[in-house]
Amino acid sequence: MDDLYRENILQHYKNPHHWGELDDADFEAGDLNPLCGDELKVQLKVDGDGRIEDVRFSGHGCAISQASASMASDEIIGMPVDDLLKLDRTFVLDLLGIDISATRLKCALLSLKVLKSASLGHAAAWETESAA
Ligand code: FES
Repeated sequence: MDDLYRENILQHYKNPHHWGELDDADFEAGDLNPLCGDELKVQLKVDGDGRIEDVRFSGHGCAISQASASMASDEIIGMPVDDLLKLDRTFVLDLLGIDISATRLKCALLSLKVLKSASLGHAAAWETESAA
């Protein structure tokens, strides 16, 4: 069973979904895995209802970090930003579907970290608008 998940991870790594840059992103964030220096950036487009309309990742990293970003990108389109902010590590680990060692955990969670950072930009903007 693990082989199927490993094959899926490899496919996402070789052909990552939603990779590149958005011309009209509303929010973006980037971060790196301090253990290896690999970087990941995410851009989000959010519609008027606070749902994620589009997403793009860019950067470089290992198969686990790239595949988790690619898999997460498929799942979050259409998701309310508020729901994204509630996601935890099980979201990513379930998508990957294999045991992740403690040293690779930062690789696996990098995409969720940058997604949440970008979403916090939306939450902050929304609060500012509501307060005005
Ligand atoms: Fe750098 Fe995984 S080894 S993100």
